[in-house]
Amino acid sequence: METKTKIALVTGGSRGLGKNSALKIAQKGLDVIITYRSNIEEAEAVVNEIKAMGRNAVAFQLDTKDRKSFDTFIKNVTSHLEESTGSSNIDYLINNAGTALYSPITEVTEEQVDDIIDIHFKGVFFLTQKLLPFINNGGGIVNISSGLARFATPGSSVYGSIKAGVEMLTKYMAKELGSRRIKANVVAPGAIETDFGGGRVRDNKEINEAVASATALGRVGLPDDIGGIVAFLCTDDAGWINGQRIEASGGVFL
Ligand SMILES: NC(=O)c1ccc[n+]([C@@H]2O[C@H](COP(=O)([O-])OP(=O)(O)OC[C@H]3O[C@@H](n4cnc5c(N)ncnc54)[C@H](OP(=O)(O)O)[C@@H]3O)[C@@H](O)[C@H]2O)c1
Repeated sequence: METKTKIALVTGGSRGLGKNSALKIAQKGLDVIITYRSNIEEAEAVVNEIKAMGRNAVAFQLDTKDRKSFDTFIKNVTSHLEESTGSSNIDYLINNAGTALYSPITEVTEEQVDDIIDIHFKGVFFLTQKLLPFINNGGGIVNISSGLARFATPGSSVYGSIKAGVEMLTKYMAKELGSRRIKANVVAPGAIETDFGGGRVRDNKEINEAVASATALGRVGLPDDIGGIVAFLCTDDAGWINGQRIEASGGVFL
């Protein structure tokens, strides 16, 4: 009997860790839906790269801060799936999209706090809630957290705290969705060289060296250090991993 190709949806799959995850997931033989917020060219480049591997891929616009748009987004995705596969369902959801905030507690504004909560918590919570009817039983959810949910470095109080919230939320997802055999796990990257936060880990030599010297493996992370872990969690071989936090930071601040 032919088994149906599994499908993963990666939010923020147009750049950085989401892009790397989408490519590595496609290498594992899954079809991929990515989302982008504004940069359609980069999203299309990822789609083309995946198609060149012989897998199906498509990109949809999504701002995870704009919860009112979720119903339309899901309608567009499910209609596309229905047309192309005969089923409106996906198998894996990777909640990856997000932006940075570096600001000391004394300077953080209420607007910045709302922003981070909207993107990194409410966006993850309600997008997952609304997609749940369209995730196949036996599928999985991967929430991207951060090393900053385990250790505190100045300036990341809001971001780190909200990521910590997503980590607890993941345990609740695992518990409440277990009856549908849906797994939920966290991948928590350390500092990785991407555009994140204006590319500060990649482009600021001082920050790059400080992170490298606090890391057992002696360097900062690269997108290639992360995508394969996310992709592994989208395979049957990872099917008994549930409710776990996997930190991929090269051993920072051990
Ligand atoms: N890089 C690190 O050091 C690091 C470390 C730990 C955790 N993380 C986490 O890893 C995830 C990805 O980070 P990254 O380094 O890959 O960042 P990135 O290179 O800046 O890429 C961010 C991606 O998310 C999308 N995006 C941003 N804001 C969005 C929003 N409001 N709604 C929907 N999509 C949005 C972007 O789309 P557009 O291209 O269209 O803007 C892009 O695809 C984030 O959750 C971040 O918190 C990153």
